[in-house]
Amino acid sequence: MLRSMYEWLDRRLDITPLWRDVADHEVPEHVNPAHHFSAFIYCFGGLTFFIVVIQILSGMFLALYYVPDIVNAHASVKYLQTEVAFGSIVRGMHHWGASVAIVMLFLHTLRVFFTGAYKNPREFNWVIGMLIFFVMLGLGFTGYLLPWDNKAYFATKVGVQIAASVPFIGPYIATFLQGGDIVGAQTLARFFALHVFFLPAVLLALLGAHFLLIRRQGISGPL
Ligand code: HEM
Repeated sequence: MLRSMYEWLDRRLDITPLWRDVADHEVPEHVNPAHHFSAFIYCFGGLTFFIVVIQILSGMFLALYYVPDIVNAHASVKYLQTEVAFGSIVRGMHHWGASVAIVMLFLHTLRVFFTGAYKNPREFNWVIGMLIFFVMLGLGFTGYLLPWDNKAYFATKVGVQIAASVPFIGPYIATFLQGGDIVGAQTLARFFALHVFFLPAVLLALLGAHFLLIRRQGISGPL
């Protein structure tokens, strides 16, 4: 039954080459932990991606309940946490996933750095990776404010003050982040939009470029 459905689709859309291209792609020996145990360091990029997928899926479910305004934000998170079935689990996944993602990202970056994988011809992918790094930090920073409790509020104030201390353009960055002179209603709306629309869109585009380049250039050779 499944087979004939597949063949029906394949005759019309020629889908076999699409997955064959991935399935037949050979992984070089030096990145295979079955051959050399130390090759496990090559898993961190894939693990980072795995966490990113978890963050997107759990975040989509959080968005079903979260209300992005200063009157209701905190109550909506509390409701999700205490009343909604599996709400605390999904929120916990998103909360802990945010930290695990940064740890995996860091380990991946260390692997790329210490195997010299950023060198010619992979400079572009290193730069794309750097941009991804800032976007991931931005996701962490904007997400932290959303529960709108004391910790979120004051952490954001500190973060904005750090940005404000940048020479010359600092005050402009602070006004841009806050959406005004204080951390308030505009800031929450802004951080919400950045957290769920702008930054994820940029992240997905950058990851698409990251993976395309990896496929095109292959993984860097053994040391
Ligand atoms: C969400 C973030 C990221 C994801 C999901 C990701 C994913 C991956 C994956 C799956 C690979 C294949 C090899 C491996 O897994 O080690 C890879 C390779 C690579 N990544 Fe990332 N990456 C991310 C961020 C970064 C960052 C922050 C940098 C550096 C600043 C970076 C630089 C590179 C480079 C240069 C390669 C090619 C390595 C080689 O050919 O040996 N990536 N990435």
